[in-house]
Amino acid sequence: MRKKIVAGNWKMNKTLPEGKQLIKSIIDELNHRNNKEVKIVLAPSFVHLQNAVELVSEFNQISVAAQNCSDKSSGAYTGEVSAEIINSVGCEYVIIGHSERRLYYLETNNILSEKVNQALNNQLHVIFCCGESIEERNDQKHFEIIKSQLTEGLFQISDNQIDKIVIAYEPVWAIGTGLTASPEQAQEMHQFIRMVVSEKFGEHKANNISILYGGSCSSSNAKSIFNQKDVDGGLIGGASLKSVDFVDIINSF
Ligand code: PGA
Repeated sequence: MRKKIVAGNWKMNKTLPEGKQLIKSIIDELNHRNNKEVKIVLAPSFVHLQNAVELVSEFNQISVAAQNCSDKSSGAYTGEVSAEIINSVGCEYVIIGHSERRLYYLETNNILSEKVNQALNNQLHVIFCCGESIEERNDQKHFEIIKSQLTEGLFQISDNQIDKIVIAYEPVWAIGTGLTASPEQAQEMHQFIRMVVSEKFGEHKANNISILYGGSCSSSNAKSIFNQKDVDGGLIGGASLKSVDFVDIINSF
């Protein structure tokens, strides 16, 4: 059975004290109403990671993710953070290939494939993001784009390594815009992604991989999206910054 996962991508939000407070309120909220079947992942900025790991240590259900890692292993790369350093603070996951990284920091599929390799070589689970722009969807190129993002950025890994991957489908036009993919659009693409994974790694691996939806996912639309057969949870941006909203989403399955 594949895992249900709700991950909170805080992006460049929250100071350290604000972040500690948010984690405490999430735990508090979960103590009142918790869907124990769901794996929860929190992705604050690098500065928070060690603290976040300590704060969630009593709560097995919650893991911590970095939002990015370097494509290099170590050395003279000022400002970069390696997968090894991320792993050394007890962090278990890393998000790779978010559209904001692709768009603003020009991360190509090739660079992303190096990042994935670094993460896996350092025992991290990867949340690998893919998603098309509105122009690509309007031109009916969305399936083709997603397939090339997966084949060029992710599919260099081995059959065993696919077990450590979570895929997040995040249509760029839905991120932070208040526009969400309809449950049918999400299901259609998730089913396609599972088929592409199956072609490369076989049906068994494809059935076991969790595929998350991301893009303006909120407590009011999460239920209808999570209800879809191939949707295994969400990667949540804006709505992960408020404990009540985030825990509402966790309880939407
Ligand atoms: P959003 O962001 O929920 O604010 O749209 C999602 C994401 O970028 O992961």
